[in-house]
Amino acid sequence: MGRKFFVGGNWKCNGTNEEVKKIVSTLNGAEVPSEDVVEVVVSPPFVFLPVVKSLLRSDFYVAAQNCWVRKGGAFTGEVSAEMLINLDIPWVILGHSERRALLNESNEFVGDKVAYALSQGLKVIACVGETLEQRESGSTLEVVAAQTKAIADQVTNWANVVIAYEPVWAIGTGKVASPAQAQEVHQDLRKWLADNVSAEVSSTTRIIYGGSVNGANCQVLAGQPDVDGFLVGGASLKPEFVDIINSAS
Ligand code: G3P
Repeated sequence: MGRKFFVGGNWKCNGTNEEVKKIVSTLNGAEVPSEDVVEVVVSPPFVFLPVVKSLLRSDFYVAAQNCWVRKGGAFTGEVSAEMLINLDIPWVILGHSERRALLNESNEFVGDKVAYALSQGLKVIACVGETLEQRESGSTLEVVAAQTKAIADQVTNWANVVIAYEPVWAIGTGKVASPAQAQEVHQDLRKWLADNVSAEVSSTTRIIYGGSVNGANCQVLAGQPDVDGFLVGGASLKPEFVDIINSAS
C-alpha cells in the first residue's frame, strides 16, 4: 500500500478568534480530494483548539503544536497529552525547530516527548532539520540522523508517526529547498530508517517537507518520490493552503 499524502498546516502563534474562524470557513468550503487520497491536519494555537475542532469539517483533523513530556501535574503553563486526548485532539507536532532553538529542546527531550505522546494515544508529527551553518559544513545527514535516532530509540509503533523534514534555513524565509535538495534528504532519512529500524517502517512512514511551501512551489515538491506531503507554516493561514492540499492529486 502506498503512503497516503499528508498536508499539515502549522498556524504557529498566529490568529485571533475571528481570524481562526475565517480560516476554518475557507477550509470548510474548499474542494479537495477525499480522505482516502490526502490526510489534512491543521494545528492552531492551544487556545483555539476547541473552537477549531468544533467548527472544522469532519474529514480534516486538528493537531496541537506541543505537549508536555510526561503526565500532567505541577507544571505551570504546560498542556499534557492526557488533556489533548480528553479533548479528542488526535495529533501533536513535536520537536519543531522553533522550540528546539528558542526553548532549548534537545534531541533526547524531543524523543521523550514523542514517546509519552504516543503512549497516551496521540499521533505525532516529529520535526527534524538542519540549520544553514550545518548544511554549509556538510553535516545535514548527520544532524537529521541524530534527531531521528533520538526519536526512533523510543518509538515502537511507527504507524502513528509522521516525520517532518524542515530545514531551518527554509522556514519562514521564502527560501524553499529545491525539489532535489528535499528529495535528497528525504531519501537519506528513508534509508536511515531502513538501516536502523526496519524495511517495513522505511517504506510505510510518511516523510513530509516543511519550509516556505506555497501554492506555487508545492506541485513540483509533491512530485518527488520520497516527499509524502507537507508541513506548511505561513501559507497555511491563507486560502492558498487549499492549493497545497490539492497538490496531492
Ligand atoms: O512547521 C511549518 C514550518 O516551520 C514552515 O513554516 O512559514 O516556512 O511555511 P513556513
